[in-house]
Amino acid sequence: MKLLTCCSFKGGAGKTTALMGLCAAFARGGRRIALFEADENRPLTRWKENARRRNAWDSQCEIFVADEMSLLEAAYDGAERRGFDYALADTHGGSSELNNTIIASSHFLLIPTMLTPLDIDEALSTYRYVLELLMSENLVIPTALLRQRVPVGRLTTSQRAMSDMLASLPVIQSPMHERDAFAAMKERGMLHLTLENLGNDPMMRLVERNLSLAMEELVTLSTLVDQAMEG
Ligand SMILES: Nc1ncnc2c1ncn2[C@@H]1O[C@H](COP(=O)(O)OP(=O)(O)O)[C@@H](O)[C@H]1O
Ligand SMILES: [Mg+2]
Repeated sequence: MKLLTCCSFKGGAGKTTALMGLCAAFARGGRRIALFEADENRPLTRWKENARRRNAWDSQCEIFVADEMSLLEAAYDGAERRGFDYALADTHGGSSELNNTIIASSHFLLIPTMLTPLDIDEALSTYRYVLELLMSENLVIPTALLRQRVPVGRLTTSQRAMSDMLASLPVIQSPMHERDAFAAMKERGMLHLTLENLGNDPMMRLVERNLSLAMEELVTLSTLVDQAMEG
């Protein structure tokens, strides 16, 4: 089982949304996913409740509450024993012993960031924090930044400058764009199943194209993350 963790000091960086998206892309590819809920606000648990109401929860995926050290250990052992392909850990913002433990147990670390100077500043602090933690523990774990909520249209000069600045760092080549389909995942459930269910709901057919574009973006992202995880 491979543990992939979304982390950043900043709340609202797009960690949970990136994780939901990756979960859908991996599940669509037939992978079994354990979701480690390490944020005490339990966004993934709420996601699952909403998703089940809409028949858009993939039963190959399961949530393990892991917002305390002992629960995290139990989650890891349980998920590994039960043969999940991936564990995706959603952390809360900031640093804590729990976050440090999750980071140090991961096979891949993803740091989502928006392209504002403030967000990039926070992402770089997180990146440095992670590197220092890994060095102090003598660990080598592939780590990459993910440009999140990138405008679909033209970037502003400032956004372009921020994006260029990241070029010298490990950045996932393909970003996640700012899309309603992504913002709506927490209410609607897993994107691949929302798409599958469209046939039953004529109103939703209007947005099919947007959902498909969003799904394609996630499939590309999951492929890149897979490659990065392989090193
Ligand atoms: N790619 C995206 N497109 C549109 N909205 C997004 C996107 N990523 C995140 N959001 C929205 O931004 C807000 C913060 O995202 P979230 O994933 O909860 O951040 P974090 O987990 O880092 O606190 C949420 O309301 C979410 O729906
Ligand atoms: Mg979150």
